[in-house]
Amino acid sequence: MPRILMAASEAVPFVKTGGLADVMGALPVALRARGEDVGVVLPRYRGMRLNGARRVFDGLKVWLGADGFRADIYCTEHENVPFFLVDSPALFDREGIYGDGKEDFPDNYVRYAVFAHAVLAVARHLFRPQVFHCHDWQAGLVPVLLKSTLWGDPTFAGARTLFTIHNLGYHGLFPLAAMAEIGLDDSLLHPDAMEFYGKASFLKGALEMSDALSTVSPRYAREIQTPELGFGLDGLLRKRADVLKGILNGVDYSTWNPETDPLIAARYSDANLEGKREAKRDLLATVGLPEQALNKPLAGIVSRFVGQKGFDLIADAADRLLSEDLYLVALGSGNPQYEKLFLDLAAARPDRVGVHIGYNDPLAHKIEAGCDMFLMPSRYEPCGLNQFYSLRYGTIPVVRATGGLDDSVDEETGFKFAEYSGDALLGAVRGALEAYADRPRWKKMMLAGMAKDFSWHASAAEYSALYRHLLG
Ligand code: ADP
Ligand code: GLC
Repeated sequence: MPRILMAASEAVPFVKTGGLADVMGALPVALRARGEDVGVVLPRYRGMRLNGARRVFDGLKVWLGADGFRADIYCTEHENVPFFLVDSPALFDREGIYGDGKEDFPDNYVRYAVFAHAVLAVARHLFRPQVFHCHDWQAGLVPVLLKSTLWGDPTFAGARTLFTIHNLGYHGLFPLAAMAEIGLDDSLLHPDAMEFYGKASFLKGALEMSDALSTVSPRYAREIQTPELGFGLDGLLRKRADVLKGILNGVDYSTWNPETDPLIAARYSDANLEGKREAKRDLLATVGLPEQALNKPLAGIVSRFVGQKGFDLIADAADRLLSEDLYLVALGSGNPQYEKLFLDLAAARPDRVGVHIGYNDPLAHKIEAGCDMFLMPSRYEPCGLNQFYSLRYGTIPVVRATGGLDDSVDEETGFKFAEYSGDALLGAVRGALEAYADRPRWKKMMLAGMAKDFSWHASAAEYSALYRHLLG
């Protein structure tokens, strides 16, 4: 049984800013259920409680910078998977995960370099893996260090690395001059390693130096090899295409299931949809929309408000969307420009648009359950998770045909549009409104979506096969 050590910057139930955390909370558990021996390393951020965690390594010293950094390692079990928490207060005990809400922390390269060293220390002293499975740039230095400084270290002889790209849009880019501070050798600051247009890229280093690469949907694995969605790394990804595989994310149905969800007003299932109406009534009251909307089509959005998510299209089509018989509820936070977009819409049409700015997990569940349709007009989407949740909650997804959205929604279960334009979005929404007016057709689509099974089981099996393939 190969031993797998994963490294990532967030995981449910410990810390979450986006879908990476959902994946990191569920994939290891699904692998464990298949009998894999898997552990996970995370930073311990402020507010992450240590109830029940054991301190398993005292005073790890990472010799970077003038004085070095100290970290204690704690271990706690989540659903039978050991999670190792790297506790280094100087780096992680602060308000915010990646930044203060306005800007990224300027010392992120130090934070995630120390994290990478701590991952390697966990591997050396506590949980020695055959495969390091690293996720996104924050874990990118792990494969880089294994292939450079630690090359030939007998502790890691034969260990293989898999790097999963959850989002190619985030590079972990830092000044080349700063890399000496984290002990990176000049030879790594080369175009065949970490150098990217005059900067150092943690992501590029990982893409160059991992034994295998994966993305979180098959279509995204193809898209990132094109200049359009390759973020300047498409050439490298084409070069590495033989070791690049797309594995679609799954869903944790123990958290996202209308039959058991404690966060919604009433439970329901495909056999009895009554509760969905109650959930809609409750959602309308929660976001301050009029009760008469109960019999009208209600569309939902839950998202990080960033350029990737396609809200330019909502801006472009908003007037025309709201001249249709459509109600809208949006939850999210991020870029002030998009927060303003939604706040302005709600101010102009309080009878039609309910908006909540912020991060709110219970409200996210209420929106999944209470809406009729769910909008994801993403410019690009490595996988996307809300369309899966929507399908299970009988909330019909209207999505742009990109990445994992295209891989998981079809004509039987939702509405897709291809062109990145407000007109195309509007066309798909109008298609959905037409279907909504035809109750039997709508119900048939709801039931088709609810019957889909995107549980982690199948994806975990693909990762298992990939680990074995890597180990030959
Ligand atoms: P991404 O990781 O790019 O943000 P995903 O669709 O993969 O996109 O995952 C987003 C996850 O974060 C989902 O579980 C979604 O419900 C959640 N989420 C996003 N924004 C919010 C928010 N404002 N409040 C609560 N949950 C949110
Ligand atoms: C990223 C992507 C999203 C994906 C998630 C989990 O944040 O933006 O599409 O679902 O990672 O893999």
